[in-house]
Amino acid sequence: MQNYLTPNFSFAPMIPERALGSRVWDTEGREYIDLSGGIAVNALGHCHPDLVAALAEQSQKLWHISNIYTTKPAQELAQKLVEHTFADKVFFCNSGAEANEAALKLARKYGRDHFGGHKTEIISCLNSFHGRTLFTVSVGGQPKYSKDYAPLPQGITHVPFNDIAALEAAISENTCAVIIEPIQGESGILPATQEYLQAARRLCDEHGALLILDEVQTGMGHTGKLFAYEHYGITPDILSSAKALGGGFPIGAILTTDKIAPTFGPGTHGSTFGGNPMACAVGSRAFDIINAPETLAYVEKQGQKLQTTLRELGEKTGVFKEVRGMGLLIGCVLSDKYQGRASEITAAALKHGLMVLVAGADVMRFAPSLLLNDEDMAEGLKRLEAALTEWIA
Ligand SMILES: Cc1ncc(COP(=O)(O)O)c(C=O)c1O
Repeated sequence: MQNYLTPNFSFAPMIPERALGSRVWDTEGREYIDLSGGIAVNALGHCHPDLVAALAEQSQKLWHISNIYTTKPAQELAQKLVEHTFADKVFFCNSGAEANEAALKLARKYGRDHFGGHKTEIISCLNSFHGRTLFTVSVGGQPKYSKDYAPLPQGITHVPFNDIAALEAAISENTCAVIIEPIQGESGILPATQEYLQAARRLCDEHGALLILDEVQTGMGHTGKLFAYEHYGITPDILSSAKALGGGFPIGAILTTDKIAPTFGPGTHGSTFGGNPMACAVGSRAFDIINAPETLAYVEKQGQKLQTTLRELGEKTGVFKEVRGMGLLIGCVLSDKYQGRASEITAAALKHGLMVLVAGADVMRFAPSLLLNDEDMAEGLKRLEAALTEWIA
């Protein structure tokens, strides 16, 4: 097929056409098991009937209205997010990058408004990923994503992840925010330690800095809790969410407190499509299903099962040396012999009818539907074993 799109993506050699649950079919009618979840987006699988109904229902009522009006779906979803988290207020946007952009802008303005023009420094972690806008690639700790776009925004310091001493040395009265992914997603499904996030919370408090948790990938049930911060016994000042928030429909959000939210006074920030009624209606229905205790318990149970089997498969084939992550957000670290070759495995898996992801060059990533059933999991693992066996032969 002729490709009319810019070449910034290397597309797979098949074209997905339709999908249901954890199965996808391409334009040739070939079937795939999807253990990638559209990169942690399709939290309820593909075309979940309740989300299809929510979208169809809302599409008959109101698609878009300018943001000088609020809508019932937006207020409903925001209320649910507030009632089930640390937050008091929500700002809606359309993606993870936009959510982090808003979080960082909010933190800079909060620092300036409350402490003065010196409080603008942002601390972020090496190898972190926060999105593709100029501000978020600059804050992200992977220069390969930002170097071609210089001059970059200033006042950003990068420190090693999970290194309390480095954070302690970097933070100062000039720091307006520390931004952390509770599990570094794009760079290998690497969880923050309890001590690290707790120290980050304490250091932010001591220096009047805001703690931003980027839960774009970890949020909305993937770790077995609604948001990953719940595993750590701390709360952030600002949390960014996107990906699974819309269950496959584009939406992003930041959650924050009543202390900080007034910084975003009228006219200070905005988005034409943010809080779009279609996205919020789908997100609201997705929220109810994801946040149900039985769904979160199921994620925990299926996550354990998937991790255990991946560990066994790693031992049997010698391809993985470590399986890590939480719930159904899982990374398999390649053995030394296979380092740097994760994308070869995703290609091999696709040939065997399985969609999986990489998280950097050395880690295979699994972020399937939170409703992944035993049959699809077993079939997916069978295909993975076949792919790995052929690949190492
Ligand atoms: C932790 C994290 N933050 C931000 C983003 C950017 O989200 P989006 O691609 O929706 O802009 C991602 C995307 O992978 C992510 O994993």
